[in-house]
Amino acid sequence: MQNNQQSTLSNLLFPMPLAVTEGSGLFRINTATTIAAEPLFEGVADLASELLGLKLGGEDILFKEEGGLEEEEYILTISSQQIVIKASTAQGGFRGFSTLRRLIIASDTIIPAGIITDKPTFEWRGFMLDCCRHFLSPTFVKKMIGVASLFGMNRFHWHLTDDQGWRIPIDGYPRLESVASKRVELSYTDGRTHGRLYTKEEIADVQAYAARRFVIVIPEIEVPGHASALLAAYPDFGCTKGPYEVQDRWGIFDEVMCAGNDGLMQFLEDAINQTAKLFDGPYLHIGGDEAPHTAWKSCPDCTRRMEAEGLSKIDELQGWMTSVVARMVTKAGKSPIGWDEVLDGTENMNLPKELIVQSWRGSAGGLEAAKRGHYTIMSPNTDGCYLDYHHIESEEEMGNLGVSTIEQVARFTPTPSHMADEAKRFVLGGQVNLWTERITKSRQAEYMLFPRLLIFAQQLWQSQSVADTLAKRPLLEKFCDHLDLVCYRGPSA
Ligand code: ACM
Ligand code: ZN
Repeated sequence: MQNNQQSTLSNLLFPMPLAVTEGSGLFRINTATTIAAEPLFEGVADLASELLGLKLGGEDILFKEEGGLEEEEYILTISSQQIVIKASTAQGGFRGFSTLRRLIIASDTIIPAGIITDKPTFEWRGFMLDCCRHFLSPTFVKKMIGVASLFGMNRFHWHLTDDQGWRIPIDGYPRLESVASKRVELSYTDGRTHGRLYTKEEIADVQAYAARRFVIVIPEIEVPGHASALLAAYPDFGCTKGPYEVQDRWGIFDEVMCAGNDGLMQFLEDAINQTAKLFDGPYLHIGGDEAPHTAWKSCPDCTRRMEAEGLSKIDELQGWMTSVVARMVTKAGKSPIGWDEVLDGTENMNLPKELIVQSWRGSAGGLEAAKRGHYTIMSPNTDGCYLDYHHIESEEEMGNLGVSTIEQVARFTPTPSHMADEAKRFVLGGQVNLWTERITKSRQAEYMLFPRLLIFAQQLWQSQSVADTLAKRPLLEKFCDHLDLVCYRGPSA
């Protein structure tokens, strides 16, 4: 997009802010442009200086404290003389700076004057990366956190345990590294192994990178299913005691954690306590999806557990386990989150109210959660939130399982019109997920993520009409080029 005198802020902004007033004149950013900040914004100004390649010192771009604004709210004023970002908090300053940085990219450094007053609609603006099916490097994970934060996203859900690999170190359990982190490719018989753990240093580095950008990292430890890798390392934690394999196939496996095994429960408590210490954020995801109960039915330990706990149905055993593990998370100082299966069969079980429910099998889980007084995160696979799904129905396109078109993403809202008002207040926001069964390289991941992730980010920030969003596709491609992101450029539906 060639910049010219007709460029307006509205044409260059993505996501669109809450309010924009066009001004007259232009501010030109060049190598002599300087940044200054009041003390509250020192960290943000340092980051701005680093990312824009500009010196701290003079007040061409000024961060100023302004009372009375909300946590993420900011006012960005651009005149031909100066750019001022006002906020009440460092986070508000970062959100304002991110809008400025997007404008610098979109305008080729010549920014139209005007005033932007802005804050997000939803509190939870998240994305998930599955780093188990295929390992994604810390460098790539940080790149995605950086890009997501530039577009106003503030939650990174890190899927760290699954059938095909365990990725988080837990002291006292060395076979997580020597066995559970390594997928032997049995089907390909070339003797290769895939994967490894993230080191504690890498996790701390990702965490610090995210914190600087006001992104909260949510680690996920899956309970009780998707556990083949753990069971391969510690077969005693399963009902049949194995042998188990770190899976080299995709799907849902009958081998799950044994709900009757006290050694397993001790492991989960250790894993949760240590994970809670490794991450600064207030949340810990406990999975819960796609866990068959087949093995539990013929397991004497599981039967004993049901008797001891007075449970009559096998579904209630998962409910029992969810409750116990959720309480471990609470005791470790975090809020537990589970996929929507955590609600199945638990109507009369009094699940801990602090359990947040992530709705993925459509929106029904979220509606049910809200009805039962649980906060919920909407990531329905039926409405564009699964970014491993194809961009369009086409033999030529990569992708897995289903379709999430750009138009679907552009229509997405976490609070659809059929949702009752009293349910809406339990909706924290939304999240897109990228599963990596068929994604072996970060460049493929980018093709699946972009531009859909950017459009999703807008819908959670300030929802726009589909037509207005689609009209901005050239701008989104420009952002991707500038940020060195592979981007899908095909049909929107
Ligand atoms: C999921 O997609 N199995 C949460
Ligand atoms: Zn069992």
